[in-house]
Amino acid sequence: SDDQFKTLKNLVLEGLNPSDKDDLLLANGLEYHSIIKWGEKINNADTFGFNNDFICFIPLDDNNPKDGLLWVNHEYINPFFVSDYNESEENKTPKTKEQVDKEMYNVGGSIVRIKEENGIWKVVENDPYNRRITSQTPMTLNWDTPIKEASTVFGTNSNCSGGITPWKTFITCEENYDACFGETEYDENNNPTHRASEYGWETFYKYPPEHYGWVVEVNPKDGTAQKHIALGRFAHECCTLYELEDKRVVAYTGDDHNDEHLYKFISSKPGSLKEGTLYVADTINGKWLAMDWENQPILKSKFKDQTEVLIRAREAAKLIGATALNRPEDIEIDPITGNIFVSLTNNKPKGDYHGSILKIEEKDGAFDALTFKAETYKAGGEASGFSCPDNLAFDLAGNLWMTSDMSGSAMNRADTPYLPFKNNSLFVIPRYGKDAGKVIRVATAPRDAELTGSWFSPDGKTLFLSVQHPGEQTKDLSNPTSTWPFDKDNIPKPTVVAITGDLIEKMNKLNLLEE
Ligand code: FEO
Ligand code: CA
Ligand code: CA
Ligand code: CA
Repeated sequence: SDDQFKTLKNLVLEGLNPSDKDDLLLANGLEYHSIIKWGEKINNADTFGFNNDFICFIPLDDNNPKDGLLWVNHEYINPFFVSDYNESEENKTPKTKEQVDKEMYNVGGSIVRIKEENGIWKVVENDPYNRRITSQTPMTLNWDTPIKEASTVFGTNSNCSGGITPWKTFITCEENYDACFGETEYDENNNPTHRASEYGWETFYKYPPEHYGWVVEVNPKDGTAQKHIALGRFAHECCTLYELEDKRVVAYTGDDHNDEHLYKFISSKPGSLKEGTLYVADTINGKWLAMDWENQPILKSKFKDQTEVLIRAREAAKLIGATALNRPEDIEIDPITGNIFVSLTNNKPKGDYHGSILKIEEKDGAFDALTFKAETYKAGGEASGFSCPDNLAFDLAGNLWMTSDMSGSAMNRADTPYLPFKNNSLFVIPRYGKDAGKVIRVATAPRDAELTGSWFSPDGKTLFLSVQHPGEQTKDLSNPTSTWPFDKDNIPKPTVVAITGDLIEKMNKLNLLEE
């Protein structure tokens, strides 16, 4: 209507200033409530894990956007809070099995049924769908060749971001997996050695590192999970899927590590994440390079088969000429133009402190194209007002929402370039109207925290958001660096919140300005 048009046209987007306050602050027109936090019961046996990251919501019934299953990643643990293991102690006592078990329980993911009533999302306690996936949950490998003699493996961990499949299952990605069971490394003569993990879980559980570093698919209804070997093994930040007209699938996924790469899988069969080809990006020449052992002599000369190419994807990618990127993080497909946006969070050794967002335009807009154009869409820095982009999400009108991930140890410090940005934040880049293209800060995180996992409800009215690692720099529990969410025990807790309000509703209609 004309009234609605006028309201939108005059929409004042009052951004927040940077803040170092220990609180979740929101711009005018936004409000939040907590849905679930670390340690809360989801059923009689299980509790919600630590450091919630990626969030995905799938309604149980397509006609009711207010009742469905929420998937939440639990990326990593802070032993200090989770297992009462003090890493900084001088004469370290070894971690006990009980401590390792607690840590392994607190990673992976959670499935919880949530419902919205009177504007408030609540967990349905003891719902039969509520369950935990942990670092001990058995799951299968979607591959014909066993990996380290196994086709069923134990658990998933380091689950950072993720995605959703066209057939409505959850995708969760294993990122910094080497923290859990270490990594197999190869010298110049191709001899393997085991590099120890940060958490030392392999002391009690000798799980091969090769069982981790994959893209994992979880069935929302029964919690069964499979690892998709064809998508390669590296520090997967996320995996963003697109279904072609003939039902073949294209999957974009990045390796969040300095100078690592951006990959794309194109399936050869409808709905398959097994049959197909994995490509890696040469962003300089705009080419997707096939990670194909059969047809790449250089891969044949180093690796014994395609399985080994996929397990050692980083090495294979470099051999065929992949471009080193500045830590590719989240990836989203612009719902209006079909362009692909990739957060390149930073590359400190190369002097890129603030990162950028890369835009990829596939040839003729075809997602299965093998050539593309790449350019910087927006660079971080003081001029643009953000630093270290991480999670991306488009709303129903095609506005881009983005979170930042400056590390907790670098934020708010005068000896780093991050001081002016203060706490990590959530931003929106409007697509239409007088603020189109501007980067507007709409939320700031509690101290040391990062806002992650941004995901819109199907009606666009709720933005689900993770508040991850508040108080991460705490060295003494009696004096935590954050006490958010301000519980009586003063212990900071990773929490999933629902952000709602007038501003989100208006942003989701901003496309009306175009008509
Ligand atoms: Fe876990 Fe790349 O952020
Ligand atoms: Ca991330
Ligand atoms: Ca990050
Ligand atoms: Ca994170």
